[in-house]
Amino acid sequence: MGKTIIISNRLPVQLQISNGSITAVPSVGGLATGMKSVHSGSDSVWIGWSGLTDEEIPEELVPKIDKALAEHGSSKVNLTKEEVEGFYFGFSNRTIWPLFHYFLEYSEFELDSWTTYKAVNQKFADAILEKAEDDDIIWVHDYQLMLVPQMVREKRPNISIGFFLHIPFPSFEIFRTLPWREEILRGLLGSDLIGFHIYDYERHFLSSVRRLLGLEVSFNEIYLDNRVIKVDSFPMGIDYKKFSDAAKEHSQKPASQQSELQQRLNTHKQSDPEAKFFLSIDRLDYSKGIAKRLYAFEYFLNKYPQYKEKVRLIILAVPSRSNVPQYQLLKREIDELVGRINGEFSTVSWTPIWYFYRSMPFDNLIDLYTSSDIAWLTPLRDGMNLVAKEYIATRTDKTGVLILSEMAGSANEMNEALLINPNNFEQIADALYEAINMPKEEQQARNELLQNRLERYNVEKWANSFMTSLKAQKERDAENI
Ligand code: UDP
Ligand code: G6P
Repeated sequence: MGKTIIISNRLPVQLQISNGSITAVPSVGGLATGMKSVHSGSDSVWIGWSGLTDEEIPEELVPKIDKALAEHGSSKVNLTKEEVEGFYFGFSNRTIWPLFHYFLEYSEFELDSWTTYKAVNQKFADAILEKAEDDDIIWVHDYQLMLVPQMVREKRPNISIGFFLHIPFPSFEIFRTLPWREEILRGLLGSDLIGFHIYDYERHFLSSVRRLLGLEVSFNEIYLDNRVIKVDSFPMGIDYKKFSDAAKEHSQKPASQQSELQQRLNTHKQSDPEAKFFLSIDRLDYSKGIAKRLYAFEYFLNKYPQYKEKVRLIILAVPSRSNVPQYQLLKREIDELVGRINGEFSTVSWTPIWYFYRSMPFDNLIDLYTSSDIAWLTPLRDGMNLVAKEYIATRTDKTGVLILSEMAGSANEMNEALLINPNNFEQIADALYEAINMPKEEQQARNELLQNRLERYNVEKWANSFMTSLKAQKERDAENI
């Protein structure tokens, strides 16, 4: 067996140039944070976009950029500003992302961006073909690259190709509205194995294959020409040890070595030991239900006024895709809502919402996770949601309550959390009340079960089971030819 080639739009790091020097900042988002742990310590190569357009890279810096990426086991696909516009901001994030998250009204169907998506997928496929030997394994990731498997297959009919979708695959009734639906399915079917986070997404995909392409599907296998394509679900885990070790280390740090953020959190905790911190961390994305969460918080404060001055909502919203109009509108909506709610409820000694619009380094994420009594995550749709898993992994004394939307893929494996419908404010307010008042023993009993499960099925297990299944599929297929 040869090497593994990982291919995704985002690399584990994003490059930035300032005053002629290059810095690599860690990429945000579940794909990058999860795959980073799989990639480090293996001999895999990761191909993707550096985050800079060709126009932003001066010729003389190209060798330095390649070197900076090589230090992270990565190599880049070059994209022009126009390609990024049509492929990334356009088809990927104005067509597929909203459609696959059931925001049909946000989906734009534009021929130009589809054309660019195809051309850029071909660029990624060419970058693979340039590096791949016949015995390599190609692992393609996510909705930005759904045509790549078939583009590689055409040139290398016998190479092993796996594809994993990190977002939901919508029901047939939604997917069928896409003008290029057959092409997308055929692109994916270039793979030997297609993985989804949960069985529902897998089921939706199989139903679309059957109904739109009329292919023979038996259980979870698709028959196409002389190939058998396997479809399966692999719920992505986290690097459990990384988070639990960091939290353990964090709990042993003397006050003088704690971060500024932690010291501020401590000051507020000490001023009222009864007060509770609610935490939410998401990219600023309409699929995450941040605005609904703010309305629900207001609803909670009105329904249970005894908690005024007792609870604080900490929102970390990470800037994301800010060239897309829907994200700009959302930013404005959240800014206004936070301002309005804080204006309505604040007192001289209490600001109900602390809102951070930025990304934070890993250590500060650990500060937030370990200091918060309740993690409150309300996506309207989410392929998985790794933040929910990370919060639980950092609870070294097993206290803490997770309130999680049932629309997140991770809810399937996290039954011990308080699962809520993000549209049901009454239920959410009651869940917050229940979380605040949950006895410590009950918190610990729930988290013990969750932690054991997350530790067992960590991100390494996830990657290994995908790879094992891909290899087995390839061997079976080879026997059938
Ligand atoms: N994250 C990060 N920096 C931040 C905030 C979050 O790296 O400032 C990470 C977080 O730890 C998690 C990922 O971003 O691993 C978010 O993944 P999730 O599956 O929750 O959502 P996605 O962004 O992929 O939709
Ligand atoms: C989700 C997607 C990833 C994407 C990430 C961050 O996790 O599944 O493919 O990388 O969001 O979004 P961005 O557009 O910044 O890559």
